[in-house]
Amino acid sequence: MHYLVTGHTGFKGAWLTLLLRSRGHTVSGLSLDPLEGSLFETARLAELVEDDRRVDIRDATATATAIREMAPDVVFHLAAQPLVRRSYADPRETFETNVMGTLNVLEAVSTTPSVVAQVIVTTDKVYRNVDQRAGYRESDPLGGDDPYSASKAMADILTQSWVKSFPGVATAVARAGNVIGGGDVSPDRLMPDLLNSYSHGEPASLRYPLAVRPWQHVLDCLNGYLVLSDALLAGTGAGEWNFGPGEESFVAVGEVADITARLWGDGATWSAPGGEYLHEANLLALDSAKAIENLGWSNRLVFPQSVEWTVDWYRAVADGLDTRAVTADQIRAFGELA
Ligand SMILES: NC(=O)c1ccc[n+]([C@@H]2O[C@H](COP(=O)([O-])OP(=O)(O)OC[C@H]3O[C@@H](n4cnc5c(N)ncnc54)[C@H](O)[C@@H]3O)[C@@H](O)[C@H]2O)c1
Repeated sequence: MHYLVTGHTGFKGAWLTLLLRSRGHTVSGLSLDPLEGSLFETARLAELVEDDRRVDIRDATATATAIREMAPDVVFHLAAQPLVRRSYADPRETFETNVMGTLNVLEAVSTTPSVVAQVIVTTDKVYRNVDQRAGYRESDPLGGDDPYSASKAMADILTQSWVKSFPGVATAVARAGNVIGGGDVSPDRLMPDLLNSYSHGEPASLRYPLAVRPWQHVLDCLNGYLVLSDALLAGTGAGEWNFGPGEESFVAVGEVADITARLWGDGATWSAPGGEYLHEANLLALDSAKAIENLGWSNRLVFPQSVEWTVDWYRAVADGLDTRAVTADQIRAFGELA
C-alpha cells in the first residue's frame, strides 16, 4: 500500500511514517520544512520516504498537483497549525492552514483516482467545552473558543459536509488530543519543555501546574489512526471517531512534571512563575467507547507508562543512541503489547 502523510515532518507525522514503514508500506509526505532538531531530521526520514515534498496546503493548485502526482492509495491528513498560543498570535494563518488547507486536501483527493481511503485528523478540542468531567462522545456538539479549536472544529464539520456532498473516497475523522512521546520539538508543549530543561540541568517553568489533562502516548493515538484506515479499507469505519486515553491518565501537569523529574534523575526540578495567561480549555476528555466497541481499538500503554516511554526515549537519545533505532525499538515493543 502507498500512504500519503500530510504533516510528515511534524511530531505525529514522523512517528506515523516510521510506523507505516515498519508495516512494510510505502510512504510519501507533503509538509513544510521540519523544525530544527525534529524527529524527521534526526531519524533521517527523508531516506525512508518515497516522495518527500515541501508543499504549502494553503496553495490549492500546488496541493492538488502534488497529490495527483504522488497517486497514493490512502491519505492521512495531519498537516496543520496545531498550537493554541500561536493561534492567538496568528489567527489568520491558523484558519487558512487548518480550514482552507483541509479543503484543499479534500478537493485534491477527490480528483486523484488512486485514493481509496482518507483519515482527516482533528482533535479533542473540536468539542464545545462545557466543563464536564465525563468524556465527550462523537455525537456531542462541536465548538471552540480559541482560534485553534475553532479552526479544527471547522475542519471537522467541513469534512463531514464534504463526504455527504461529494461521496466517493471512504473518509473518517479521527479526534485525539494531547499526545506525548519522544521527538516532539514544538514550543509550548509540556514534555519537550520539561525534558529540554531537565537535560540542561535547569528548572522547568510550568504555566498551569494544577491543570488536569489526559495524557496519551503518541503510539496509542497513531494506532487508532491505523485501525481506522484499516477499517476504511475493509469497507467500514466511515464517520467520526474518538481515540482518547483512559481515565487513569487524567493527571495534573505538576504531577506529570514530578514523575518526569523523578524518572530523569540528576536533581531535575520545576517551578511555576504564575501570572496572566491566555485562556486554555479546562479538562477535555474523550469517551472512546465507539472505537473500542466497533474498531477493537484500545490503549496499550496505561499512565504513567506513556510518560516512562517518553522519558526513556529522551534518555536513550541523550546517551548517544541513534534516534531512528530508539524510535524503531519503541515501535517494536509497542507491537509486542498487542
Ligand atoms: N500533538 C498533539 O498533542 C495533538 C493533539 C491533538 C491534535 N493534534 C493534531 O495532529 C496533527 C499533527 O500534530 P503534530 O503535533 O504532529 O504537529 P507538528 O507541529 O509537529 O506538525 C505539523 C505538521 O504540519 C505541517 N504543516 C503546517 N502548516 C502547513 C502548511 N501550511 N502546509 C503544509 N504543511 C504544513 C508541518 O510542516 C508539520 O509537518 C495536527 O493536525 C494537530 O492539530 C495534535
